[in-house]
Amino acid sequence: MEQTFIMIKPDGVQRGLVGEIISRFEKKGFSLKGLKLMSVERPFAEKHYADLSSKPFFHGLVEYIISGPVVAMVWEGKNVVITGRKIIGATNPSDSAPGTIRGDLAIDIGRNVIHGSDSIESARKEIALWFPEGVAEWQSSLHHWIYE
Ligand code: TYD
Repeated sequence: MEQTFIMIKPDGVQRGLVGEIISRFEKKGFSLKGLKLMSVERPFAEKHYADLSSKPFFHGLVEYIISGPVVAMVWEGKNVVITGRKIIGATNPSDSAPGTIRGDLAIDIGRNVIHGSDSIESARKEIALWFPEGVAEWQSSLHHWIYE
């Protein structure tokens, strides 16, 4: 079953949006497989965002991610990577539709409260980076009557 990596960024944690954000993924019907509050160090944040290392905003982005604790999560379900991106909304909250997390809860591109993997391949890499210990293996006993 498809999995994605979702991270509530330090502003989301400090603004008290953890419950709100988790609730949106739960209500959609996705399954929570991993969850932890953690602070990351600079080299770890740089590794997570390695693909963006040449961008002018890279330094500020890393400073932001290491500024406080984040909530790292793994969510599972059919098409969870692409659907998770839709739930999150466009990168720049000015372009994110109302009803999306960034559209409803954020204003600045550099303080956009949440990260979500952008492909199945990056989800696999990010889950391996953030959850080297692995994630929970469980399935709702009602699974057959909730999902086709
Ligand atoms: P990116 O991976 O392009 O977006 P997304 O998070 O939607 O997958 O960029 C990573 C983060 O970098 C993005 O969430 C916010 C930050 N960022 C800026 O601060 N300025 C920018 O111009 C861009 C494109 C991103």
